[in-house]
Amino acid sequence: MPLPAFPIDAIRAEFPALAQKDGNLARIYFDNPAGTQVPRQVIDRTLEAMVAKNANLGGYFSTTVAADELVNEAHQAMADFYHARSPREIVFGQNMTTLTLHMSRCLGRRLSPGDEIVLSRMDHDANVAPWLLLAEDRGLTVRWMDFDPETYEFAEDALTSVLSPKTKLVAMGFASNCTGTINDVKRFAADAHQAGALFYVDAVQLAPHCGIDVQELGCDFLVSSAYKFFGPHQGILWGREALLEETFSYKVRPAGNDLPHKFETGTLSHEGMAGTLGAIDYLASHGDTPGSSAKTYDHMSARGARIHRAFDVFTDWEHHLCKRLIDDLTPFKGLKIRGITSANAVHRRVPTVSFTLDGHSPEVLAKAFAARNMFVWSGHNYAVEPVTRMGLMDKGGVLRVGLAHYNTEAEVDAFIAGLAEIAR
Ligand SMILES: Cc1ncc(COP(=O)(O)O)c(C=O)c1O
Repeated sequence: MPLPAFPIDAIRAEFPALAQKDGNLARIYFDNPAGTQVPRQVIDRTLEAMVAKNANLGGYFSTTVAADELVNEAHQAMADFYHARSPREIVFGQNMTTLTLHMSRCLGRRLSPGDEIVLSRMDHDANVAPWLLLAEDRGLTVRWMDFDPETYEFAEDALTSVLSPKTKLVAMGFASNCTGTINDVKRFAADAHQAGALFYVDAVQLAPHCGIDVQELGCDFLVSSAYKFFGPHQGILWGREALLEETFSYKVRPAGNDLPHKFETGTLSHEGMAGTLGAIDYLASHGDTPGSSAKTYDHMSARGARIHRAFDVFTDWEHHLCKRLIDDLTPFKGLKIRGITSANAVHRRVPTVSFTLDGHSPEVLAKAFAARNMFVWSGHNYAVEPVTRMGLMDKGGVLRVGLAHYNTEAEVDAFIAGLAEIAR
C-alpha cells in the first residue's frame, strides 16, 4: 500500500549526504546497519560545540561552563530517548563495544567462579565476546540461547530452557544486524528476572527504527550507538540507577563516585554528545510528521513522546519499503533471504535484509553493487554467531541490504534492477 503522506523528499533534504554524487552517479545508501547518514542538526550542533564550547568540564570560565551544560543536556536528551527515570542512568562512551567491554568487566566483580551467564547465537560479537572474555577471567559457565535457522526467531522457551539457579546474567540483542529479527526482549527480560539474573540488551540495531522504553522493557542495562540512529560516533548505555550505584567501576582515583560519571572514564567526546543532541533534535522535530500514529505517550517527557511518534511514522514507511524489497527479491532463482519474509510479520523485523544468491559470493555481489554506487555490506558483519549458525561462515556470509526511513521506493527498485543485471 503506498504511503503518500510520508514526506520523503522533505526528510531527505534534511540530510546533506543524501544529495552527494560520485561523478554523475547518485549514492544509494543501503549500508545503514553499519552507520547512518546525519541530518543538518547533527552537523550544526557539532560545529557549535567545537567553536563555542570546547573546554574541559568543571571550571569557572565561560567555555567550561558551556561544556558542562552541553554534557548535562546530552544526558537528559538520552534519558528522554530511552525513557530512563533519570539522566544519572545514562553513560556515554566511545561506542557500544567499548561500553560493553567496560561494563562486563565492572559487572564481573559481582560474579564468582561457577556462576552461569547466557549468551545468544543471534547476537553481534560486541554482545558476545566481552562476556566470553569475562567468563574466561572469572571462571563462569556460558550457556547459549539458540535460534531456529529456518524461522530466524527464538522459540518461546529458548531462554527458560538454559536458565538455572546459577544464572547471573543474560545478554541478548534487541534486533539482529544480520537476520533483522526483533526479539521479544520484554518477555525474555521477565524470564531472566524470574531466575534472578540481570538482563543486558544490545539495542544498536533497533534504535534507528523504533522508539525504546527501558521502563516498559524491564531490562537492567541497554546500550546503543548514535551513529546508527542518525548521529555521530558515540555509544550510550542506560543502566538501572540502583544497579549502577552498587556496581564497582574501574576508574582513575581522582574521578568521583557520582553517577553517571563513575562509569564515564577519561575525557569524553563532548562534540559527540553535541552531535547526539542534534540527532535527538532531528527525531523530536518529526513528532508531528503527517501520519503520526494514534498512539499516545503521555507517560513520557514531551521530547520522549515526540521521538516515539516520529519513529511510529518512520516505521510505517520502513515496513512499506521492506515489504517491497522482500517481494522483489523473492522471485530471483537461487536467492535465499536469511530472515523473516512474511509480510504479516514485518513488524517482527527491522528492514535489514540479508540474502545469499547461488553462484555469486556476497563479496563479489557487494563489489558489483559498489560499481553502481549502491552501498551494501557483505560477509559476517561481526555477526559471527548467527552466520556460523546458518552455516555461512565459510561461504562468505551474506549480502546485507539495510534500509532506513530516508530511503525511497526508487532506490529499492534501482537495487532490484541492478541485481537483475548482475545475476544475469
Ligand atoms: C547489533 C550490533 N551490536 C553492536 C554493534 C557494535 O557497535 P559499536 O560500533 O558502537 O561498537 C553493532 C555494530 O554494527 C551492531 O550492529
